[in-house]
Amino acid sequence: MGKKSFYITTPIYYPSDKLHIGHAYSTTVADTMARYKRLSGYDVFFLTGSDEHGQKIQRKALEGGVSPKEYVDKIVASFKNLWQKLSISNDDFIRTTDRRHYDVVQTIFQKIYDQGDIYKSTYEGLYCTPCEAFWLERQLVDGNCPDCGRKVEMVQEESYFFRMSKYQDKLLAYIEENPDFIQPVSRRNEMINFIKGGLEDLCVSRTTFDWGIPVPFDTKHVVYVWFDALVNYITAAGYLDNREKFAKYWPADVHLMSKEIVRFHSIIWPVILMALGLELPKMVYGHGWLVVEGGKMSKSKGNVVDPVVLIEEFGADAIRYFCMREITVGNDGNFSREALIQRINADLANDLGNLLHRTLSMINKFQGGVLRTPTEMADIDNTLVELTRTVAVDYEQYMDKFDITTALKGVWALISRANKYIDETGPWALAKDAEKKERLNTVLYNLAEVLRIVAILISPVMPNTSPRIWQQLGLTADITAAGLKDAQHWGELPDGTKVTKPEPIFPRIEEKEEEPVTEVKTEPKVEKVEVPEISEVSIDDFAKLDFRVVRVLAAEKVEKADKLLKLTVDLGTEQRTIVSGIAKHYSPDELVGKEVVMIVNLKPAKIRGIESRGMVLAASSGDLLKVVTAEGMPSGSKVK
Ligand code: ME8
Ligand code: MG
Repeated sequence: MGKKSFYITTPIYYPSDKLHIGHAYSTTVADTMARYKRLSGYDVFFLTGSDEHGQKIQRKALEGGVSPKEYVDKIVASFKNLWQKLSISNDDFIRTTDRRHYDVVQTIFQKIYDQGDIYKSTYEGLYCTPCEAFWLERQLVDGNCPDCGRKVEMVQEESYFFRMSKYQDKLLAYIEENPDFIQPVSRRNEMINFIKGGLEDLCVSRTTFDWGIPVPFDTKHVVYVWFDALVNYITAAGYLDNREKFAKYWPADVHLMSKEIVRFHSIIWPVILMALGLELPKMVYGHGWLVVEGGKMSKSKGNVVDPVVLIEEFGADAIRYFCMREITVGNDGNFSREALIQRINADLANDLGNLLHRTLSMINKFQGGVLRTPTEMADIDNTLVELTRTVAVDYEQYMDKFDITTALKGVWALISRANKYIDETGPWALAKDAEKKERLNTVLYNLAEVLRIVAILISPVMPNTSPRIWQQLGLTADITAAGLKDAQHWGELPDGTKVTKPEPIFPRIEEKEEEPVTEVKTEPKVEKVEVPEISEVSIDDFAKLDFRVVRVLAAEKVEKADKLLKLTVDLGTEQRTIVSGIAKHYSPDELVGKEVVMIVNLKPAKIRGIESRGMVLAASSGDLLKVVTAEGMPSGSKVK
């Protein structure tokens, strides 16, 4: 019989910027689970990748003055470099620009269209580009995107729609019948409420930009980036090009991500799969956020932590251990340099490092580095064996529930117990007594045996440290051949094993006054005034905006709108009507005759039934507002 399979995924990250420690956290959780399942004897398929299409990426590339493909190629290379440095053991890396993916997305889109679940209409509504998400007016929070809090844009375009509404009841029934489908349970309740609020048909194509996969039967449309992205999970599993593989790995066991995108994975994705007649993933797990000094990382806050810098300073295993030990999967957790150093010194250099060092030193010193299988065990030995067994068995229970933190706590309780066992059995005293040779061997063997088991149990989290301990114990068989069963079974260290000289695995970190900063300040911190996240634009982008001096010819209040004034302005070449939200700050009389600055090539907008063609510039701060003037300048003068 073949091995049982386990398919786990990370989100495919946007190559709009370099990845930060939050992304590294997410991928490390997935990697730890993948390695744990391999250890448990599963045939694992672990997937990560990049989500490369969409408006956000196209804009970024434009700002950078390069083509979208050139832009993403460079950033995707940095993703791969990070995963390699962090010892991530993914079996595949999918890019949504891969040919294999392109084919799957087009095939699926056509299929769903042909069966009548995709239809053409017009989308008129709100869009959050950073989240690549459509919103309804009622879903906004303070007029902004409910997910990221940033401004949404009004879009109006011909679009294809996916009949999500048709599947609402089926999806709800599925979630209710499968309590493990959405984890943790708090996320599950949120999703149930969201669906009960009503599923709207989803806009699944865009026409206002072209960086995406063309709709096969209407190529002026590109497929909506989330529809495109979610499909990656079946592309990589061989949906179109490898039936055997697909049969083996689909449905996925776990889609892992953090909470802000659980909605896409537990609502849109299942409905796509239902429309395709495919099985749904067994679990969608939404973990918490890694925050820095209590706040979410963002470029504008300048608190983005670069994982590559950290790995170079502390090594991959220390970072991985910290993330898995300090932050319970499912909860938010804090990242700080102090806490990291604290963990390295206390848990790794001290507890684990000392146990290894003391044990190996004594074996070398007292019995020429060679261990014999004990013949007689005392009570204190049996207690240690019992604890080891309990820890190794509980470990499996916790890991299966994604509770990596508690699993590790157990391992460190064992390490502490073993350190105490040294003090209690007193090998130095035993070594002085010729009659206690056998007893001394037993104590040292038991310590080495604990270390053998610890090496296996920490291997999913510390894949570099674990083989080093193994090798120092003198074990010649490859540790990757060891399984979880070997950690749950006492006494596998062979008779006659010869250990090596101890080599430190984690040196203590002595923090000097002036340490290199690992928090990359990408932009200066701004006090008091909240500055929204605005990226740099090129001079060419700026040149697209046509600012002119215009003279206000007439001004009047707009009925039933206490903030609005209707202005008639003179551009020198023509007159225009605009609506401006400045009525609280200027009376109509004050404005007439003024030369003000206006953007004249802004798309016209209908405000209170009046077509407004342009926008007057004004400076504002709190309750203050002043329009930007250019006294005495002729109408139509260019402002640049
Ligand atoms: O959402 N703490 O990509 P993305 C923990 N392309 N995890 C974090 C984190 C933090 N502070 N910040 C980011 C997208 N993450 C889409 C996904 S999937 C079909 C498409 C991790 O680049 C976490 O896993 O914005 C989160 O869900 C993901 O990065 C978002 O990455
Ligand atoms: Mg995001």
